[in-house]
Formats: sequence, structure tokens, C-alpha cells
Amino acid sequence: MEKIEVLLEAFPYIKKFSGCTFVVKYGGAAMEEERLKKEFARDVVLLKYVGVNPVIVHGGGPQIERMLTRLGIPTRFVEGLRVTDAETLDVVEMVLSGAINKAIVQAIHNAGGQAIGLSGKDGKLIVAERVKGKDIGFVGDVVGVNGKILKDMCDSGYIPVIAPLAAGVDGTTYNVNADTAAGSVAGALSAEKLILLTDVPGVLDANLKPISSMSTEEAGILVKSDTVRGGMIPKITCCLDALRAGVKKGHIIDGRIPHALLLEVFTDLGIGTQISGE
Ligand SMILES: Nc1ncnc2c1ncn2[C@@H]1O[C@H](COP(=O)(O)OP(=O)(O)OP(=O)(O)O)[C@@H](O)[C@H]1O
Ligand SMILES: [Mg+2]
Repeated sequence: MEKIEVLLEAFPYIKKFSGCTFVVKYGGAAMEEERLKKEFARDVVLLKYVGVNPVIVHGGGPQIERMLTRLGIPTRFVEGLRVTDAETLDVVEMVLSGAINKAIVQAIHNAGGQAIGLSGKDGKLIVAERVKGKDIGFVGDVVGVNGKILKDMCDSGYIPVIAPLAAGVDGTTYNVNADTAAGSVAGALSAEKLILLTDVPGVLDANLKPISSMSTEEAGILVKSDTVRGGMIPKITCCLDALRAGVKKGHIIDGRIPHALLLEVFTDLGIGTQISGE
């Protein structure tokens, strides 16, 4: 009986979301652990089978960090964005586009789905210009997303897996924060949801308690406060941008919880922080 209840609980959500697009940012600790990686891939494939179009954008902070350390290249962050000189950019591209992207593609195949890995440079999927006002090197602000490439892939049964690099309007390559890239992609696709998997239980308030739901107004105030720092800044900001572009809901959830994605989408429970217009 318990099993049937679980299925019945999921049914209205499956009905509601079938045919919709979910853009999922995969990063942090959820990407580090082998078991979580497998479960994530299976969740994504299940979404595809129930009619949702998942589009994956991945990060890779810890992996880039390790490779930079191995190569003896120092690194620093400004407001959650990695300062990226030419040498760092090479490493970022190698790790994101080469290693991580293909590992996720493979995990999805092993789970029974069909994935295509690409970076924002391919087909000029993501176009960016140099971030203004901060001297942080080859870090880009997204100025355009070619959503048609992704729609075509989704319609043909594929799950796109995107490494957050971008084609520069000036002909160079830019490193884009993966959350920012995911938000722009979600906006361009008018996605139903933007879901950011991370390594904390959601957005934490000043008492370190996870906030279960916020309006865009509340999120806008919070992101400017001292409570939100580092990698959480681009997450909240990109949710707000995506909502402004027509995405219905932003979710920041704990990727360390097994099957976090399915729990968030198909149960009444809901985990992490959700940001919506209402
Ligand atoms: N108010 C806050 N609530 C939650 N986390 C916060 C807050 N302020 C800062 N953070 C930090 O933001 C981090 C999440 O962003 P981070 O960029 O490190 O990870 P990620 O984006 O999931 O992974 P990656 O950058 O590798 O893709 C948390 O681990 C936490 O240290
Ligand atoms: Mg991050």
C-alpha cells in the first residue's frame, strides 16, 4: 500500500509537468560522490520517460580546483566568480568540457537515457561578453542563448548536457558561472523550473536555518545582505533573472540527499528553497 501511495502522490505532478522543460544545474557535492552521480542520472532519465524535458547544466568547482592545484596554478574568487586568466581558462575548459561533461553523458547512458554533451561554445549555444566593472579575466556575462539547438535535441529524445563555457562576442572563449548559465538557458527556453542542486540544505537565513520558500522580493533583499555570500550569490541572482524571463519557479536544493530531484518535483514534501513570483 505504501508503494501505491507514493505512485499516487506523484501522479498529479507527472500530469502537470509532462511536456514541460526543467533546467537542472548539477554541481557541488552531488557531483563528487559516485552513488549520488548514478542516482542523479537515473532521476534525469526517469524525468525524460515521464515526458519532462530535462536540460542539464553542470559546474565543477572542486574538480577545477584540484586540477589547478596539481598544476600549481593559484586561483582566487571575487563575489563568487573565479578570476580566470588565459592559463586558468585552459584548465577550466579541459576539466568542464572534457572530463566532467563526458562523465555525466556516460552516466545518463548507463541509466538508460540518451544524452548529448556540448559546451556553450558549440553552435554558439551561449554567447557572452566580458563581465563589466570587475577585473576578473575571461569571465563572461551571458548576452544570448540559442534555445533552438536545445529544443531540437529535446524533441529528438536527447537530454542536453551543457558545460558552462561561452562563445565570446569578441571571438574569445568565456568561463561563465554554471548557475548563471543555467538561469540564462532556463529563461531562453521559458522553462517551467530552474533547479539548482548544491551542497547545502537550501538558502540559509541569518540563523543558518534553511528558508523553505521566498518571494522574488524577499530573495532580492536577502541577496544584498551579509547573509548570502560566495557561490550562493549567483544562485539567487540567476533564479531572479530566470523568473523575470518567464521561468515559473526556481529551486535551490540539497544535492547530497539521494534522489533530491525526484523528491522536489514529484512529492508534496518539497525540499530546499523555492523562489517564485507569488
Ligand atoms: N546564505 C547562504 N545559504 C546557503 N549557502 C551559502 C549562503 N551564503 C553562502 N553560501 C555558500 O554557498 C555555497 C554553494 O555555492 P558553491 O558555488 O560553493 O557550490 P555549487 O555552485 O553547488 O558548486 P559549483 O560551483 O562547483 O558548481 C555553499 O556551500 C555555502 O558555503
Ligand atoms: Mg557555484
